[in-house]
Amino acid sequence: MVRESNGDRADIGVIGGSGFYSFLDDVTEVTVETPYGPPSDSLFLGEVAGRRVAFLPRHGRRHHLPPSSINYRANLWALASVGARQVLGPCAVGGLHPEHGPGTLLVPDQLVDRTKSRTQSYFDGEPRPDGLVPRVVHTAFADPYCPVGRETAVTAARGAGWDAVDGGTMVVIEGPRFSTRAESRWHAAQGWSVVGMTGHPEAVLARELGLCYTSLALVTDLDAGAAAGEGVSHEEVMEVFAANVDRLRTTLFDVVGKLPVEQDCTLCPHARGSMDPGIPLP
Ligand code: ADE
Repeated sequence: MVRESNGDRADIGVIGGSGFYSFLDDVTEVTVETPYGPPSDSLFLGEVAGRRVAFLPRHGRRHHLPPSSINYRANLWALASVGARQVLGPCAVGGLHPEHGPGTLLVPDQLVDRTKSRTQSYFDGEPRPDGLVPRVVHTAFADPYCPVGRETAVTAARGAGWDAVDGGTMVVIEGPRFSTRAESRWHAAQGWSVVGMTGHPEAVLARELGLCYTSLALVTDLDAGAAAGEGVSHEEVMEVFAANVDRLRTTLFDVVGKLPVEQDCTLCPHARGSMDPGIPLP
């Protein structure tokens, strides 16, 4: 790890999505190397409400990484390595039902993985650096998000004036293309709420590392099956995100200030004890 200052610890990590490339004005840039290669960018460390925060732009600060090329393992590892035990993952999503239109903030409680080509575990069967046989681990993931983080996020979003939706299922597609109308209608017919491209495998990797992970899904468009017209465009996504990014930042500041310093749930940190990928844990 290359450190540019001493202020290189953080309590909370924030992974910013499309349209969200910076979080704080007064930051220290820290370059982190991980056993899994480089994360999407440097970590930008600063302080909010007395808490140390590490911000990481998920797609890189110049948005050069498409969803399938993001090194999710390195990203979560990097945040854990500076001490973060809580991770907030805001992301842009499409709404699958008209009641979840652009500008809605939904804090999902469930996830469906429809990605195709992402490494979604630290326990990938690769040879271990210490020469031992790799471990096979099956992580409990029935409830993919931190209950304490979710509750804190919903309350903060409502405090910021959002009619936040508490719960719902996020389906994650491989991208980078948007869904066809048929795929979108099928997703909606399953009862799923929103569709995105980056919500997986962030949550499961966080769980493997014993981190509390909370997703805040900002609806930027009605997905193809829910909307008449041409379907989704990238421009539309960026425009709606830009119109809501200040309120999202305010919400995240509030969440950062209110999250318990210690991991206060029985779900997430519990996973940490079973974690032994054959390299020193961050
Ligand atoms: N991100 C933002 N809008 C989306 C959509 N409609 N489908 C997938 N990912 C998205």
